[in-house]
Amino acid sequence: MNDGVLLIGSGGHASVLLDMLIEQKINVLGYVSPLLAMNQKLFSDLHWFKSDEDIFQFDKTTIQLVNGIGSLPGNTLRADFYMKYKKLGYSFATLVSKDAGVSGYATLEQGVQVMRGAIIQTGTTVGYNSIVNTGSIVDHDCTIGSNNHIAPGVTISGHVTSQKNVHFGTGSSIIQSININENVIVGSGTTITKDIEKNTICYPARIFKKVIY
Ligand SMILES: CC(C)(COP(=O)(O)OP(=O)(O)OC[C@H]1O[C@@H](n2cnc3c(N)ncnc32)[C@H](O)[C@@H]1OP(=O)(O)O)[C@@H](O)C(=O)NCCC(=O)NCCS
Repeated sequence: MNDGVLLIGSGGHASVLLDMLIEQKINVLGYVSPLLAMNQKLFSDLHWFKSDEDIFQFDKTTIQLVNGIGSLPGNTLRADFYMKYKKLGYSFATLVSKDAGVSGYATLEQGVQVMRGAIIQTGTTVGYNSIVNTGSIVDHDCTIGSNNHIAPGVTISGHVTSQKNVHFGTGSSIIQSININENVIVGSGTTITKDIEKNTICYPARIFKKVIY
């Protein structure tokens, strides 16, 4: 990233990343989005490239892309963008907030983004293009797959494994040694205590029991 980074996107996730990039004094060459950035206070000094075609004017050997496309359940835009530009020879910056705690014995693959207040413990690997979002915890010896989104406030205990394209919804909890297969959505607030098959949506328990005193 000798020449700096190009930020992809202009929404909420992109703005949090831009905040991190500015704090870390990383040279941001501009942002790429068909839409003007929402947060003009943050983006106003940044050059706006309106088309993905503009990316090709940058030398792929000297810049890196920052994937600021957010990730919501069922939306593959972020993963598709990553795959397309990797195939074209671009590389993606791996970013860790200064306020995150990542063990020196954890491994972050290309394009992983670790946001403020997140903790990743020893022995854990996070697969490419995944987001470990604000205040989430991934404890020791986990293997998190590619294109995962660990949303704000998630707690993943030790020895958990997830395959590709898993969304851990806001505030969900996963007990130790669970295996989560590919294309799973863990709904916000859900506690997972059993292995999950692929292509599953997990909802929080809604159990109401009448108690007669
Ligand atoms: C599970 C989820 C994917 C929704 O699935 P869905 O099948 O589209 O569900 P719907 O939105 O149609 O809701 C169906 C019902 O379940 C309820 N419901 C859905 N998800 C719920 C959740 N996580 N907790 C409690 N209730 C939930 C809805 O309120 C609705 O209730 P109603 O029938 O009484 O109106 C979604 O709610 C969720 O949890 N997404 C994760 C969001 C997230 O992590 N965002 C992070 C952004 S950084």
